[in-house]
Amino acid sequence: MFAGQMTDLLFTEKDLVTSLKDYIQAEERKLEQVKQWAEKLDSLTSIATQDPEGFLGHPVNAFKLMKRLNTEWGDLENLVLKDMSDGFISNLTIQRQHFPSDEDQTGAAKALLRLQDTYQLDTQSISTGDLPGTSVKLPYRSTLTVEDCFELGRIAYSESDYRHTEVWMAQALKQLDEGEESSVEPVMVLDYLSYSVYQQGELERALDFTRRLLELDPEHQRANGNLKYFEYQLAKQRKAGEDLRYRRSEGAEPEREESEGRKGVKKDNLPEKKKYEQLCRGEGIKMTPRRQSRLFCRYYDNNQHPRYLLGPVKQEDEWDRPYIIRYHDIISEWEIEKVKELAKPRLRRATVHDPQTGQLTTAQYRVSKSAWLTANEHSVVDHINQRIEDLTGLDVQTAEELQVANYGVGGQYEPHFDFGRKDEPDAFKELGTGNRIATWLFYMSDVAAGGATVFPEVGAVVRPIKGTAVFWYNLLPSGEGDYSTRHAACPVLVGNKWVSNKWIHEHGQEFRRRCGLHEMD
Ligand code: OGA
Ligand code: FE2
Repeated sequence: MFAGQMTDLLFTEKDLVTSLKDYIQAEERKLEQVKQWAEKLDSLTSIATQDPEGFLGHPVNAFKLMKRLNTEWGDLENLVLKDMSDGFISNLTIQRQHFPSDEDQTGAAKALLRLQDTYQLDTQSISTGDLPGTSVKLPYRSTLTVEDCFELGRIAYSESDYRHTEVWMAQALKQLDEGEESSVEPVMVLDYLSYSVYQQGELERALDFTRRLLELDPEHQRANGNLKYFEYQLAKQRKAGEDLRYRRSEGAEPEREESEGRKGVKKDNLPEKKKYEQLCRGEGIKMTPRRQSRLFCRYYDNNQHPRYLLGPVKQEDEWDRPYIIRYHDIISEWEIEKVKELAKPRLRRATVHDPQTGQLTTAQYRVSKSAWLTANEHSVVDHINQRIEDLTGLDVQTAEELQVANYGVGGQYEPHFDFGRKDEPDAFKELGTGNRIATWLFYMSDVAAGGATVFPEVGAVVRPIKGTAVFWYNLLPSGEGDYSTRHAACPVLVGNKWVSNKWIHEHGQEFRRRCGLHEMD
């Protein structure tokens, strides 16, 4: 599900609410008529039955009684039987075809759990809607109910993800304990809690939860079984511990508590995924002040380029090795809107090169929607391409088309190289323009939280700032890939991220000055 489709769903829901309200009104009108009939008949019959003979002695009354019984009660029957829900139900049936599936719902839950991990958010903050980059004043700051938390825990459970099962069931229990009304039974929550805690090897806590469950429901079969089993396991563990202590006091070789490698893990050896996530959170090693002091801001006209001589652009050094430059105010509000407008109807799930086959496929590690814009479809695209050429001094004839990408909440692009490596079947062979020498990336939106471009090899974090662009070389002057350029787009936590990028290729650059590259050496 992507932002565009989800926006459609919001409007679908709005239409359905209107239709539902129409139905309620129709039902209320009907009930009002039925009520009036009942009241009229109520007073009539009570008068009539007080003096039946006197009442029927009046010829009009006799006639009206016949009429009521013969036709009016029948009309009432029809009214009561009349189904007012037709319109609403048929609207619902039509719209339901476009509703998200179970898979979509699970997907959305999993995306939330992934964000929770990447940004190390606690369940309480998520549940109260208190996320970084959101303000308490937002009208749509949304909260999770006990049911919502329970559902997240259940999905984690179905994925055998017991850590998330535990934290979300604990959150559901907490909200129940705080008195939130819910149809979720605390017994069910405790059942999941004890099991997920047990799965993580915490027998004592599993036992506590089981006992608490049994206080609420002493007859609970599985809990009774578990209670005995956990107690037995715990006793066995304690005994094993005692034996060990006994053996140690006897001079036996002590067993190692934990493998030694774990404690001394240096930051450098962290798996890339961890480094990437750290950078996304804004943690990790910072550049030394000395190094930082060599980064500058300047006005830039690319050697008195005629188009920039009178109006040089603002350039800022973002990083030294690899050299990453940011251009400020380099794409206007109007251009951004135009580019988005051109791209929107064509946005498709982004594809990547499968290094095994060289084919294009979709992958979980690149979650975004993208579209390609060609220079001849609108002058704005042409102008943008020209600007990139003028400022980088690189030929964009051989570059790929301008790619526009949109990342929704959870959208990300895990660490990758933009260039093709030697050992890969030549991904760019078909293009016949050589490897991707450089990347130009426009930020076409601010992002409330998350969504930075990070370089895990070197620790660089580039925050999206609307209207700016960053540029770096992917290849060394020798034509070898520069492995320090490995980079990623952090998942969007709050908001929506728009970028557009130009992947510039080698061919056509042979006689051009590689601007910028050597300035920082
Ligand atoms: C890319 C890329 C990063 C981002 O398009 O090659 O890595 O922040 N983008 O969108
Ligand atoms: Fe990239």
